[in-house]
Amino acid sequence: MTAPATQTHNNAGDIARVLVEALPYIRRFNGKTVVIKYGGNVMSDDYLKSGFARDVVLMKLVGMNPVVVHGGGPQIASLLERIGKETKFVEGMRVTDSETMDVVEMVLGGLVNKEIVNLINTHGGNAIGLSGKDGQMIRARKLVFNMNKPELEVSEIIDIGHVGEVESIDTAVVEMLINGDFIPVIAPIGVGEDGQSYNINADLVAAKLAQVLQAEKLIMLTNTPGLLDANSNVLTGLQVAEVQRLIDNGVIHGGMLPKINAAVDAVNAGVGSVQIIDGRVEHAVLLEVFTDQGIGTLIYRDKRPAHLR
Ligand SMILES: Nc1ncnc2c1ncn2[C@@H]1O[C@H](COP(=O)(O)OP(=O)(O)OP(=O)(O)O)[C@@H](O)[C@H]1O
Ligand SMILES: [Mg+2]
Repeated sequence: MTAPATQTHNNAGDIARVLVEALPYIRRFNGKTVVIKYGGNVMSDDYLKSGFARDVVLMKLVGMNPVVVHGGGPQIASLLERIGKETKFVEGMRVTDSETMDVVEMVLGGLVNKEIVNLINTHGGNAIGLSGKDGQMIRARKLVFNMNKPELEVSEIIDIGHVGEVESIDTAVVEMLINGDFIPVIAPIGVGEDGQSYNINADLVAAKLAQVLQAEKLIMLTNTPGLLDANSNVLTGLQVAEVQRLIDNGVIHGGMLPKINAAVDAVNAGVGSVQIIDGRVEHAVLLEVFTDQGIGTLIYRDKRPAHLR
């Protein structure tokens, strides 16, 4: 059945407008690196996952260099539950003993990483999965965790096991893949001086990678409409100087804490722009990269840049 002429005309007009709207963005990001943090919480829906993979492939095909860093908290939790292994959390961080680290490495470096690689490849891309151990890309050190509680006179140092932070990132392998027209997909596992594996929050890895690659953009996909204020309204933009106030009064907490801190570090280190967006929106990345319709929360340093939405 053919659509009525007027409807066809309107649709064609809409499509043309969308394509024209994308042009300046395609031009601006041509040859530029865009780091995308794909949160574990938004990987549950097959339809959304396919949309994400398509968006990444499209970015590559029009000349951008997408680099994906993924999380996987819920997937780790699910396997730990299946094998009956209990884990404790200290202020949102999983206490990771050696056995838990094995599971983390299997799930992040194996299951989740290869699933994303496969999705991108089945949608016409050329993805290669790595963990931070490959090429010793992510050097990690143990995260020293200070617990500050009002009842304690001095802060207490708590051992949370194999939880690490980024010491340095060697971009050689990623650059080689980008130059070879591959899409790198990176699991946030680092290697310590002692050769031990460390579980690192994926937001920290994505932000650090964006810094060392001097990325044009860092996009963080998560499971909220963006950064929410005290009344649960989405903040379309947030200046770095305002972040601490929101942390101090508890508006930013839990998983949003490492995310916002990582975003601030990236902005301060000269990453073009950092955007926290809702990964539950179909084709969220495509909307963010190719249209005037900015979504989620833009984190910026001084003044909201005029050329950014
Ligand atoms: N002010 C805030 N605005 C929005 N979300 C917030 C805020 N404060 C805390 N959060 C919490 O942060 C969560 C997002 O971080 P979370 O670590 O859970 O997901 P992720 O980083 O996307 O996934 P993963 O950790 O698997 O990579 C939200 O689901 C929300 O519960
Ligand atoms: Mg998180």
